[in-house]
Amino acid sequence: QLMGQQLGMGNREKNLAAYFQIEQCIIVPGNLDKQSRVITDLSRATYETLDFLLPDGKNIIAVMGGTTMAAVANRFDENLSRNRELFFVPARGGLGESVEIQANSISAKLAEATGGKNQALYVPEQVGKETYGFLLKEPSVKKTLDLIKKANCVIYSIGDASHMAQRRGLDNEILALLEDNAAVAESFGEFYNAEGEVVYKIPRIGMQSSKLTTIPSVIIVAAGESKAEAIKAYMKNAPSQTWLITDEGAANQILKGI
Ligand code: F6P
Repeated sequence: QLMGQQLGMGNREKNLAAYFQIEQCIIVPGNLDKQSRVITDLSRATYETLDFLLPDGKNIIAVMGGTTMAAVANRFDENLSRNRELFFVPARGGLGESVEIQANSISAKLAEATGGKNQALYVPEQVGKETYGFLLKEPSVKKTLDLIKKANCVIYSIGDASHMAQRRGLDNEILALLEDNAAVAESFGEFYNAEGEVVYKIPRIGMQSSKLTTIPSVIIVAAGESKAEAIKAYMKNAPSQTWLITDEGAANQILKGI
């Protein structure tokens, strides 16, 4: 058993990245569940990761929603646009969340903070198949979908399955399905069991998780001890170029069990 706590941060980061078979792992001090200040370090680490990974010139960055992403977005500034042209797009259509944590809002916030551009994706939650077909042909929707396809970077978080199912207001039938299939993690509108297998998917337009392997920079920001199980499950299938930005709360819990 690896005793994460007895190792230095650098070793823990290396061990976690090796365990998940990903490019890099950054662990910031503290536990987000108990110390809200941890978000400041997570934001800084996310910003620095982007500054390191993004090439000069044109960049299309697809972003997902959630409270982590919303908080991370607060720390961005125009320096990221030095030598770069940044275009932010929401990675997927609406996911039935409150406005301030929707991907559309995060994308707009990041564009504003960095002096970049933003292209919204306005698709309602509940529409019939026929309307959906029309919507996909709508120029503004099509323009965003085309940009999403060209994204060279994607940033998103991972959530605990039951927490996310409640927050998304999924109906009882789906909640039962998730329980029967022992879902522990959610990301990208997909629910995963502890083995990292998808057990349920919320159908939405935009970037599909199968595309992730083709995107040069994949950045996941997920922290807090309560997310350890979800992170561990989801990361089983994370693309190899992933950079995971997390905290000691989640990392130590994961390292304890491996
Ligand atoms: O809503 C987008 C998302 O990235 C989900 O896919 C993920 O489960 C969730 O955010 C995490 O939410 P939070 O950051 O609020 O825990």
